[in-house]
Amino acid sequence: MSAEAQKKRAGEKALDFISGGMAVGLGTGSTAEYFVRALAARVREGLKVETTATSLRTAALAEELGIVVKDLDAFSRLDITVDGADEVDPALRLIKGGGGALLREKIVAAASDAMIVIVDEAKMVETLGRFDLPVEVVPFGLAHTLRKIEEAARRVGCAGSGAQLRKLHSGEPFQTDGGHFIVDCACGAIPKPEDLAQSLSAIPGVVDHGLFIGLASKVIVGRDGSADILSE
Ligand code: A5P
Repeated sequence: MSAEAQKKRAGEKALDFISGGMAVGLGTGSTAEYFVRALAARVREGLKVETTATSLRTAALAEELGIVVKDLDAFSRLDITVDGADEVDPALRLIKGGGGALLREKIVAAASDAMIVIVDEAKMVETLGRFDLPVEVVPFGLAHTLRKIEEAARRVGCAGSGAQLRKLHSGEPFQTDGGHFIVDCACGAIPKPEDLAQSLSAIPGVVDHGLFIGLASKVIVGRDGSADILSE
């Protein structure tokens, strides 16, 4: 079975956690897209939910499929957010931001009573860090911020090869929906994600990072023929 089929299975399984009247955060990425498509099919059948999106890309997709998307500030809180991840460890700590939407994803997840993470089985790891950690930074003073990110990773015991600015095929820096840049940090195994998260957050110029700790309530892992649900 392909990773795509596993992603689809996880995305569709997340519908089990959605009921009428809920305020739902819509994640970003290829797995979240399967959820949005499945949700849209339910909405067409008459399910009433209110939604907000974690990226302009997801908002555009949802609206194209007939889902009304509101600004996050239209809600005092969300019942649930369904989003993908780049890595998940056994403590349900995540790396996110492969699609560059980590800041809005984290704000929306933090505004939600529950965050349901949907992944294919290749995303499950024993130790976070195989996937380069995305860090969202402001463009001003980029070289300085980048060095401090590398120092922070080394200080907490990461032996990776360093950080680099994410670029488009044109060579221009990738820009987030908020106009920031993304630095991808090849950390290697991250021995203590909490320590790295704290160190990165303390760097001036870092807007946020892709370590999501204490946010995921459940992880749905799409496998061949089943979808496993892991709970916090
Ligand atoms: C977007 O910024 C990310 O956090 C995605 O949720 C993550 O990269 C997973 O993406 P896929 O579902 O496309 O693998």
